[in-house]
Amino acid sequence: AALVEHTFVVSQVNMTHLCKETLVTVVNGQLPGPAIEVTEGDSVSVLLVNKSPFNITIHWHGVKQWLNCWADGVPMVTQRPIMPNHNFTYRFNVVGQEGTLWWHAHVPFLRATVHGALIIRPRHGPSSYPFPKPHMEVPIIIGDWWELDLPQVDWSMKHGSFDFFASGSTINGKLGDLFNCSGVKEDGYVLDVVPGKTYLLRVINAGLFSEFYLKIAGHKFTVVAADANYVSPYTTDVIAIAPGETVDALVVADAAPGRYYLVALPNQAPLPDTQTPEFTTRGLVQYSDNHSSDIANNDGPKEEEKVEGPTIDVPVAPEMPDHHDTITSFYFHSNLTSLHHQQVPQQVDEHMFIVLGLGSICRNGKQSCKRGDKNETIVLATMNNVSFQHPMAATPMLEAHYYHTGSDDAMQELPDEPPRLFNFTDTALIPFGPKEMSLEPSSKATVVRRFRQGAVVDMVFQSTAILQGDSNPMHLHGHDMFLLAEGLGNYDAAKDVARYNLVNPPVKNTVLVPNLGWAAVRFVAKNPGVWFMHCHYEFHLAMGMAAVFIVEDGTTVDTSLPPPPADFPLCCGCDDNILS
Ligand code: C2O
Repeated sequence: AALVEHTFVVSQVNMTHLCKETLVTVVNGQLPGPAIEVTEGDSVSVLLVNKSPFNITIHWHGVKQWLNCWADGVPMVTQRPIMPNHNFTYRFNVVGQEGTLWWHAHVPFLRATVHGALIIRPRHGPSSYPFPKPHMEVPIIIGDWWELDLPQVDWSMKHGSFDFFASGSTINGKLGDLFNCSGVKEDGYVLDVVPGKTYLLRVINAGLFSEFYLKIAGHKFTVVAADANYVSPYTTDVIAIAPGETVDALVVADAAPGRYYLVALPNQAPLPDTQTPEFTTRGLVQYSDNHSSDIANNDGPKEEEKVEGPTIDVPVAPEMPDHHDTITSFYFHSNLTSLHHQQVPQQVDEHMFIVLGLGSICRNGKQSCKRGDKNETIVLATMNNVSFQHPMAATPMLEAHYYHTGSDDAMQELPDEPPRLFNFTDTALIPFGPKEMSLEPSSKATVVRRFRQGAVVDMVFQSTAILQGDSNPMHLHGHDMFLLAEGLGNYDAAKDVARYNLVNPPVKNTVLVPNLGWAAVRFVAKNPGVWFMHCHYEFHLAMGMAAVFIVEDGTTVDTSLPPPPADFPLCCGCDDNILS
């Protein structure tokens, strides 16, 4: 095993898209940031040099961080943020995981531009992939382009304004030719392929809000992994990917040589219509002219004789699903099974039924107030009617937990069930605008849930009509989850438990709860520490759809959390503006 070292300098640079120069916060001057490539078993050391004006932490999304919660990178949950002009070295091992993960800033909204791929190859080299060795591996990072000042967006949102949108979607930082200003088209991402060869696309959704449909005209994908866990090969012409998820897929360049659009279309349930097809980004898959292929040699037409099919001038465009189509995404996700049989524990210790929703609280903290008066309600995102309040104490929660020092006064246990049962997915309850919203009165607290180390936990995430078109990719830090089943409508234990896949469920760190549906997961709370669990849809996270899972320390030395690193950031610097 090797030590893989990187230096990440976070700074603000000017980038120009859509005729507008915008100041963006990035790592090493690039968007997306540098890819970290490791072999399973390697150690990683990343020196983070913060030259930006913001407090920063970096989260290694999906890395299990066994006995290493200190490196998980959640501000005031696992560490003090790294202040401007400060440095910190993240150290962690990548063990027992292969595939595509990613890293991103874990301060509100900045992850839109502070992110990159984390690629884990098998210990015995690419020939030990459980699929044909690809000719080339290509990260495909889908993201958003923002012309707004992102910390400002966070601030406005917490003060009741929701009217801001990304200016476009991107593939590997490029907007593509559907975007233009004054007739000048934006560059798109171009993948050059050699006819007949196989490519492994490592697809990451780094966007803040949208799920995406990804297609390449004239080509099929064979999905081989999701969230750095191998899945049974699944052939499809469309990939559906939610914020936080990763998908590895093989593409064979087996079409007639030419140019084919690679399209990422934001998809969103019907209401409200904020993300529309105009945010579609497209790149190109372009066959090289200089290589002859088996296909071209055998039966392909010669260049000059080509009459039908793609021409150099007009690339072939794929037919995309409707951007309001959520069913294609539901089927894509339901069709995944893990490649190998899983040892799913059958004895469950804890059951939680977590209803995702929106709630309200008065500005003065009281339970009832009227819209329009000076204490008018603020909207919160909730789990079982409680909204996460970022810890206000000067000591991060992990440190307080480790040293058994005083805990946050605002701490409250996440209820195992919602306060009341109702028809969560009745579309008649979909509100049509903020005025008509009738939000459940909620509370705000530093929501925690404690687990004995080794506890087997079942969680059912239930989506609700109040969430309208929002996406709910639920992400757990430090642990993977078995996705046992998902369904549309209201979860009904009496019949749905029978549908659980206990043989080869997909193993995920981010589980997309179907729109107006539910997802059932099981995980073993085995990694001692303080782990964030939250929605990866940025509005929901910023509005509090989060909780902290505390896994109690083991009684044996080999499963106990070691002390914090010697160079752990000490000074507080918690800035309300950054830490919601
Ligand atoms: Cu990728 Cu806590 O997030």
